Amino acid sequence: MPIQTKELHPGFAAEASFLDLSRPLEADTIAEIQAAIDAYPVLVFRDQNLTDAQLRDFAARFGPLEIGRAAARPGRRRLAIPQIGDISNLDEDNNVRSLDDRRRLDSLGNRLWHTDASYMPVPVVLGLLHAVTLPPPSPFGNGETEFADMRAAYDALPQATKDAVDPLVAEHDVFWSRAQIGFTEFPPGEREQYPPSPQRLVRRQQATGRKSLYLSAHASHISGWPVADGRLLLLDLNAHATQARFVYSHTWRVGDLVIWDNRWTMHRGRPHDENKPRDLRRATTLDTGSTLEQAA
Ligand code: OGA
Ligand code: MN
Repeated sequence: MPIQTKELHPGFAAEASFLDLSRPLEADTIAEIQAAIDAYPVLVFRDQNLTDAQLRDFAARFGPLEIGRAAARPGRRRLAIPQIGDISNLDEDNNVRSLDDRRRLDSLGNRLWHTDASYMPVPVVLGLLHAVTLPPPSPFGNGETEFADMRAAYDALPQATKDAVDPLVAEHDVFWSRAQIGFTEFPPGEREQYPPSPQRLVRRQQATGRKSLYLSAHASHISGWPVADGRLLLLDLNAHATQARFVYSHTWRVGDLVIWDNRWTMHRGRPHDENKPRDLRRATTLDTGSTLEQAA
């Protein structure tokens, strides 16, 4: 049976009809999910009950999986499977991290509009984020995740701006995104391990032929431009692309699995009660080449 979709944000986010993603799925069903993601780069599945291994196995049907920056560090980890990213405020013993905990402060970079791992020479494609434990509301936010439609944002630019940004390349650097929130205490060796990467500013989605802005908090400046000019252009483009009309805000329920395509979206986490556990698990698929090698 083909999957049905219910639109949550026009041409951008949709909720998929129920499918039990913990069970092995036919190749046809995977192809239908992929087609739904091409149409709706934010796709929500409700009422899933997935172990980390099941989340990994489902995600792996869409491509090879990333091992993220935190999982690549030496030392004890809360989650056993390296391909499962720990999107939580919990330490190795499942205790809520203190406000000054370095891992927590590093992960607060997720509160800035970004696309995942754009600082890697070969960035990622799909994020698959599964809600296990959710915090209560707070005065500053309820732990929602917001997504911005980078295809619609590109389409809405004046033609002269499109022509000017189409050929540009931005430098993406995880140390720049962290510097913006005052976080500079990286573990020894990490700066060398993750040097900046150049990425096209405008990408084309093969499945639809549409163009998309590839923006991220990691984007520091424009290659070949004075840093200040590039940074100011990126600030303008970010303000344009994250206007309310381009944004879908996801209010989490336990059991949600939200899949997004990092190539055509930005996202950010919202604040929540920092004294309560928030536990989400993420699997992420890798791209096959640099954005510079892909047709614009
Ligand atoms: C992520 C991310 C935001 C959130 O998982 O990549 O940015 O709301 N998450 O947890
Ligand atoms: Mn992210």
